[in-house]
Amino acid sequence: MPNMRSRPRVTFEAVRKVYRGRDVEVSFDLDLCVHIGECLRGHRGVFNLERRPWVLPDEADPDTVAEIVERCPSGALLYSRHDGGAQEAHDGTTVTPIRNGPLLIKGRIEVRREDGTVETLPRATLCRCGFSDHKPFCDNRHLSVDFRAAGVPFKIHISPVRPTLREPISKSDDPRRSS
Ligand code: SF4
Ligand code: FES
Repeated sequence: MPNMRSRPRVTFEAVRKVYRGRDVEVSFDLDLCVHIGECLRGHRGVFNLERRPWVLPDEADPDTVAEIVERCPSGALLYSRHDGGAQEAHDGTTVTPIRNGPLLIKGRIEVRREDGTVETLPRATLCRCGFSDHKPFCDNRHLSVDFRAAGVPFKIHISPVRPTLREPISKSDDPRRSS
């Protein structure tokens, strides 16, 4: 039975940090991150929590940076190429239900936030359980309400931001908030 206790209302501001590199720029919005850990396992030189800034785009070639960023399901990580390389693009829009979790969307996604602001993303994880405090985005609340629904399995990587499968680090404790 889902835990339906009311919680204090959480206010989210769209704060996207930009990490500039010579050939490619990476940006990150912690409030979109669903803590799958693709970034941290992707390239330790580029994504490293033990360093500030935690993203250094010049530590790998831009194709590698782009390929890792595109593995980020939530759209928390985006990139912009300055070297003439291809920007992220998708043919049409796909919607994939993740088993016991959110809807994974890829395409050109215009998301209208509760405060009316509109953001365009190439990837997003949207709440399917109905309990997210950050709708329309997933905030991993499906874990605490034990949401169950069919879908494709999704590989979650244990990392410092996801110490256990059941519980990611809280956003207030996430070292990427201040780096
Ligand atoms: S959703 Fe996953 S890959 Fe994207 S920033 Fe968060 S931990 Fe990294
Ligand atoms: S599906 Fe993740 S919070 Fe609802």
